[in-house]
Amino acid sequence: MTQTRSSSATRQIHFGAGIHGPAGHYAGWRHPESVIDASINPDYVKGVAQLAEVGKFDFVFIADGLHINAKSIPHFLNRFEPLTLLSALSAATTRIGLVGTLSTSYSEPFTVARQFASLDHLSRGRAGWNVVTSPLEGSARNYSRDSHPEHAERYRIAGEYLDVTKGLWDSWEDDAFVRDRESGVFFDPAKLHTLDHKGKYFSVEGPLNIGRTPQGRPILFQAGASGDGKKLAAQHADAVFTHHDTQAEAREYYADLKQQLAAAGRDEHAFKVFQGISVLLGSTTEEAERRYQETLKLLTIDSALDHLGRFFEHHDFSQYPLDEPFPDLGDLGSNSFRSGTDKIKAKAREHGLTLRQVALEAAAPRPHFFGTPEAVADELQAWFESRAADGFIVGGGTPTSFAEFVEQVVPILQKRGLYRTEYQGSTLREHLDLPYPENRYAQAR
Ligand SMILES: Cc1cc2nc3c(=O)[nH]c(=O)nc-3n(C[C@H](O)[C@H](O)[C@H](O)COP(=O)(O)O)c2cc1C
Repeated sequence: MTQTRSSSATRQIHFGAGIHGPAGHYAGWRHPESVIDASINPDYVKGVAQLAEVGKFDFVFIADGLHINAKSIPHFLNRFEPLTLLSALSAATTRIGLVGTLSTSYSEPFTVARQFASLDHLSRGRAGWNVVTSPLEGSARNYSRDSHPEHAERYRIAGEYLDVTKGLWDSWEDDAFVRDRESGVFFDPAKLHTLDHKGKYFSVEGPLNIGRTPQGRPILFQAGASGDGKKLAAQHADAVFTHHDTQAEAREYYADLKQQLAAAGRDEHAFKVFQGISVLLGSTTEEAERRYQETLKLLTIDSALDHLGRFFEHHDFSQYPLDEPFPDLGDLGSNSFRSGTDKIKAKAREHGLTLRQVALEAAAPRPHFFGTPEAVADELQAWFESRAADGFIVGGGTPTSFAEFVEQVVPILQKRGLYRTEYQGSTLREHLDLPYPENRYAQAR
C-alpha cells in the first residue's frame, strides 16, 4: 500500500474547507445572506462539506475550544463537538478528508486513539486529528483541574501523548485479524502488541481495542506556531495549520519548519504546510471592496474589543482610550495563544497602531485573498510556487464566499494544472500524497 510521492514537477495545491459557522468575522451571523443558525444546523454543515467535495477539496476542517463565556465569538457559544460532527459527515460524503480539533491537555490518549481510529474505519480512511494544546485558561475549570498547564508543559504533555497514541495505533498489525471460520482462528497472536507505556504524564498498557486503520493511522495536524509548537510538528505532524499575514512571513515560516523537520531526522516531504486564509471575491476589485465594507458595518467596536480580549485571557480592553497607542500588556497572553498574542503586540508596536485599529484588525481582518477570481487565483499560485504554503484552509469572508470560491476560483486553478480535477485516491493520506506508515513491529521484523 506504500505509494509514491509526486515529483516536484507535478506538485499541486491542496485545499481544506474551514467550516466555521456562518463564515465571515465575529459578527458574520448578522450578514443578510447568512444561515442564521449555521453553527448548529446539520443540513447547512453537510451542504458545505458536500460542496467542498464537489470542489475536490482534500478535507473539511473543524476548529474547537473548551471554554466559553458571554464574550466569546458567537459561533463558539453554540456549536457541534468536532468528532460527533465528523462522524455524521462521514456518512454524508464519500471522498473528502475529515479533520477535527481535539486537545491533548484535556483528554486521555486511549480514548482519543479509539475515537480517531473509529472515525478512520467509519470513513474508510479519511480521518485527521488537529492536535492542539488548548490556549484557554478557563478550560481547566471545565475539566476539574486547579490550573491550566503552562505553555511549555502543555507541549511536553502533547509530545508524550502522541507517542502513546501512535503506539496504540500500532497495537494490531495490518493483517492481524485472520477470521478463519474453519480453524476458529480470529487473530494472529504474533501480530497483536501491547504498548506498556509508563511515562511522566501517562501510563497506558494497551493494546487498543480497534484494529489498524485504513490509513495506517489517522493524519496528524498540528496548529501551534511557537517554537515548542514547531518542534512538536517536526517530530509528529503530517500537516501543519498556520496563519501568516504576508507571503514573506509565510515563506520564512515554511523554510524554518522544513529545517526543523530535517533536524528531527524526517524526510523533507513528511508534512504539508497549510495557511489558514479568508477569501472575499467580487466580479471587480470595487465590488469586493464594497462587500468588505458591508461586513465591517456589522461589527461594533465593543464586540471587536471583546474579540481581542479573548486572545489575552479575556482582558478588558474597554478600560483604555480607543485612539491612543495599543497598551503595553507585558506578558499577558503568553500562556494562552502565545504565537498569536506575540504577533499582535509586535505588529502594534512596529506600525504604531491604536487600540481601535488593533481590535478591528483582530475581529474583522481584511482578507488577503481578495478581489476577482483571477486575482485570488494569482495570489494563491504565487504563495504556492514560492513555497509559502503547500495548501490552504479556506474560510469565507462573507456567507457566499466559499461557494463562489468553489465555483469561480477552483476552475481557474484546474485550468492552470495547479489543482486536481478528480480525486486520485480514496484516503486523506492519498489526497495529501503522504506515504503509508508501516506498523512499527512489522518494520522491526
Ligand atoms: C492556525 C492556528 C489554529 C489553531 N486552532 C486551534 C483550535 O481550533 N483550537 C484550539 O484549542 N487551539 C487552536 N490553536 C491554538 C494552539 O493549539 C495553541 O494552543 C496556541 O496557539 C498556543 O500555542 P502556540 O503558541 O504554539 O501557537 C490554533 C493555533 C493556530 C496557530
